[in-house]
Amino acid sequence: MSSLATCLSRVMCFLAVTAVSMSLSSHTWKEEGVVYGRVGDAVTLRCNSRNASSVVEWRFNGSSSIAWGFVTKLGDLDLPSVGPSVMGNYSCYNQSGELLHSVLLKVGYSPGIPSVTCRAADYHNFSCLWNSSVETLLPTRYITSYRVDRNIPEICLQDVRHPNMCSVRNSKLWTSYQMNITEENPLGSSFRILEFHVQSIVKPDPPQILSAEPIPYAPRRLQVTWAYPSTWPQEPHFQLKFRLQYRPVLHMLWSTVETANLTDIITDAFMGMEHILQVSARDFLDAGNWSEWSVEARATPWTSTEMPESVSEVSNETTTEEPEPQVKKPFDQNDPVEKVALMISLGIFAFVVLVVFLAIGALIW
Ligand SMILES: *[C@@H]1O[C@H](CO)[C@@H](O)[C@H](O)[C@H]1NC(C)=O
Ligand SMILES: *[C@@H]1O[C@H](CO)[C@@H](O)[C@H](O)[C@H]1NC(C)=O
Repeated sequence: MSSLATCLSRVMCFLAVTAVSMSLSSHTWKEEGVVYGRVGDAVTLRCNSRNASSVVEWRFNGSSSIAWGFVTKLGDLDLPSVGPSVMGNYSCYNQSGELLHSVLLKVGYSPGIPSVTCRAADYHNFSCLWNSSVETLLPTRYITSYRVDRNIPEICLQDVRHPNMCSVRNSKLWTSYQMNITEENPLGSSFRILEFHVQSIVKPDPPQILSAEPIPYAPRRLQVTWAYPSTWPQEPHFQLKFRLQYRPVLHMLWSTVETANLTDIITDAFMGMEHILQVSARDFLDAGNWSEWSVEARATPWTSTEMPESVSEVSNETTTEEPEPQVKKPFDQNDPVEKVALMISLGIFAFVVLVVFLAIGALIW
């Protein structure tokens, strides 16, 4: 069954390869009525006049003065050095004003060698992304292929929804992949070869669902949890490790801790300050690279809630008396202490009076 499947997939693959190479050879850049020129090169536009001796007139976008070119004896238009400014429609007419030929001239550059980066978000698939290194001004396509252990080339699949990217499915570990990203346009082609093992390009997606919570009665602690990136298959062989970075919102320097768990307790948070936290992931055995940092989470360690309540009570009282909260504030914070002191001294006074009364009563009795 499985051998049938592999056989079938081989056949499919072979068909795909032949289909692509056929489409490559059949897809030339020759479009009807379009001529491509390289910046700085000479270009000759043919008029196709039947009798070579006839006098013809060339027009550029309708106007008859073409200072950058001259008409040959055969009626062709010679442009000794073309640039982007001479792109446009060229048409040649005979003496009676009849259109003989019309052509669109496009001018640009040959492809440069594209810059390519490949990344595996897990151990089963990887993608390569590329950028052209030259703005060629011309229609461009990319031929993307790879060889596994120097076997026959296979296609790295491109997806119209993600331009400048191709993907390889079911990639194998400990095998050498040789990518060939070729940029092609009507003036030529340029390729870049990249050779690697999948484990060296592994870079997980950032961990997800990061959350941080205060721990009751622990003013310097935060409980942090997160989850594996959804793109990382949960398999016992391929674990991730994590690093957590955190700082108070108002500080610049991060503190970092590394862990293999999906949770951690920060024990050196700043009391009463809001903290920013982020987490990133890497293959447990240090293959490849750290992921990007996750989205931020924010949290403030637990703070005693009694003080703020009494402060607000007192400030309510004072605002009814005097509408100047800013001046009152420092005073307010001392007030509860004064209240307590007053209560205590009243209590002591009452106690003393009670004792004196009791003593007098005892004496009289
Ligand atoms: C490989 O990529 C495809 C398409 O992106 C996805 O459907 C598949 O789940 C991936 N395989 C693994 C094992 O992640
Ligand atoms: C890369 O691919 C292009 C286009 O298919 C091909 O012309 C070129 O020879 C390849 N280069 C290598 C080194 O395989």
